[in-house]
Order: sequence, then structure tokens, then C-alpha cells
Amino acid sequence: MSFPADHASSRPGPATAPGTGTALVTGPTAGIGHAFAVHLARRGHDLVLVARDQQRLETVAAELRATYGVQVEVLPADLVDREQLARVEARLADPERPVELLVNNAGFGLKGRFLDNPVDVENAMLDILVTAVLRLSHAALGPMAGRGHGGIINVSSVAAFLHRGTYGAAKAWVNSFSEWAAHEYAPRGVRVMALCPGFTRTEFHERLGAGADSAPAFLWLDVDDLVAAALRDFDRGRVLSVPSARYKAITTAARVVPTRVLMRLQGLGRK
Ligand SMILES: NC(=O)c1ccc[n+]([C@@H]2O[C@H](COP(=O)([O-])OP(=O)(O)OC[C@H]3O[C@@H](n4cnc5c(N)ncnc54)[C@H](OP(=O)(O)O)[C@@H]3O)[C@@H](O)[C@H]2O)c1
Repeated sequence: MSFPADHASSRPGPATAPGTGTALVTGPTAGIGHAFAVHLARRGHDLVLVARDQQRLETVAAELRATYGVQVEVLPADLVDREQLARVEARLADPERPVELLVNNAGFGLKGRFLDNPVDVENAMLDILVTAVLRLSHAALGPMAGRGHGGIINVSSVAAFLHRGTYGAAKAWVNSFSEWAAHEYAPRGVRVMALCPGFTRTEFHERLGAGADSAPAFLWLDVDDLVAAALRDFDRGRVLSVPSARYKAITTAARVVPTRVLMRLQGLGRK
């Protein structure tokens, strides 16, 4: 992540043309994941939808089937629970029902400071932001590389660049892992991209107990614009996608501003 943004975001090696096939989206019942499910259904992808709330999953699935005429499976699972996560891994590895695109999106943040949070709660956040991404990518990459095509979009955050507590540290892992996996598996026809949203209007901030005052108005992104930009970047073979000029500027600056200065900025907004 020490390269200039334009260089870091271009991936060498062959790139599979974006296609249809089945896409598995985690966290599709709200926010960024819901927008991914809608955009992908509009493109003609059949879908596998993974989240905890089965009723919400069924509602989204019915809407997508009715509106776009695609096939939609629901797979209720709490990705923090290793046994339930294993069911999603098994679905990704099923040779009879190949998954062409995995969107690792589900996640949550924590409001309190590190030492104010029970360590098990911190661990649950690490489980969903890192362990689930690792295990689901592992399950998906084998079959994709074997077939010679496929893709993974990992929803990270601009927090990855800004030293924003354990949440930012987990997202830095997602960026590093995605950049490495993109280069490692490009020769085998699999594209991998990390999407780094800034503040985006979803349920994320409500779930944190925070509102629109978490950030100045000009920093908020529209979720549909975000996902449209992300899919354009994915189609172009980008490895890191940072939608919007303002967040491109922020993340570019973060690469050159000394870490001690970035640390002082931590007090702004949510940690
Ligand atoms: N919104 C932002 O400002 C922002 C900025 C940067 C990055 N991000 C990242 O974007 C991703 C999506 O966030 P969002 O803003 O769209 O959040 P959101 O509106 O709160 O949606 C979260 C989704 O994840 C699912 N989910 C939550 N916990 C889960 C669990 N344990 N197991 C399975 N599914 C779970 C939720 O469904 P259930 O509750 O039914 O499980 C829901 O579908 C996250 O990785 C987040 O870190 C968000």
C-alpha cells in the first residue's frame, strides 16, 4: 500500500472477462451488500444470499426473483459462528453448483474504544471481518482457480489506510490479503479486488448507535453510486477500488502523511 494509487490499483496478468454465473453475497439484506445483490441481479447473476436474518433474506430473494427473473438461494448463517460459516464454505466449494463471484461484504464495527469492549466482542468483529473473509476466499479460490475463472470482491474500508483501531487493522488485513491474492491468482484466471468505501449511508452506523453526525455531510457516499463504481473498477481489473474523488484524495494523502500525524486525526468521527 505504499505505491501511488494508480499503480497499486492496476493488476498485471490475464483478466477474466466479467460474466454472469452465480454470485454469493454476504450481508445482502442491508446497505452495501443489498446494493451488490441488486446490481448483480440486474447484470443477470443468479445469487446465493448469506446473512443471519432468514426473514429478511427471503424478502430480498423474492424481490430479486420478481424484478430480475434470476434464481436466488438463501443461506442463513451467522458468519461469526464457525459451524455456520462452514456451511457457507461448503456451498462455495460445491463442484455441482459453481460460484463465479464471491462478495465478502458482511461486517460490523464497534463503538467503544478497544479496552472498553469485552475481548470476545472484539474477537467476534475480527471473526467476521478477517476470519470469514479468509475462510470463504479459501473455499472459493480452489474451484475458481481449477476452472480458470472467477472473482472475489472483498469489502474493506478507507479505515484500512487511517489506523482507526482494531476495525481499521482488520480492514488493512483485507487490503493486504486482496492485493496479494489478486497477483497470486491472476495467472489462474481469478480476479480479486478490495473495495474501500468511505462513510456510506447504510444500517452500519445505526447499528453502532451513531447517526449522520458521525462525519461531515460532504463525506457521505450514496450506496448505489458506491457499488456502481466498485463494479466498474472490478470490470477494469482494479485491485483496489476507492470510489469518489474525495476518498481517493484522502487515501492518497494517507500514504504520504506520517503515521504519527494520522494517529492525531483518530479523534475525528467513529473509532
Ligand atoms: N457503511 C459504511 O460507512 C462503511 C464504510 C466502509 C466499509 N464498510 C463495510 O461495508 C460492509 C457492509 O457494511 P454496511 O454498511 O452495508 O452494513 P449494514 O447496512 O449494517 O449491513 C450489514 C449486513 O451484514 C449482515 N451481517 C451482519 N453481521 C453478520 C453476521 N454475524 N453474519 C452474517 N451476516 C451478518 C447483516 O445482516 P444480518 O444482520 O441479518 O446478519 C446485513 O445484511 C462491512 O464490511 C463494513 O465494514 C461500511
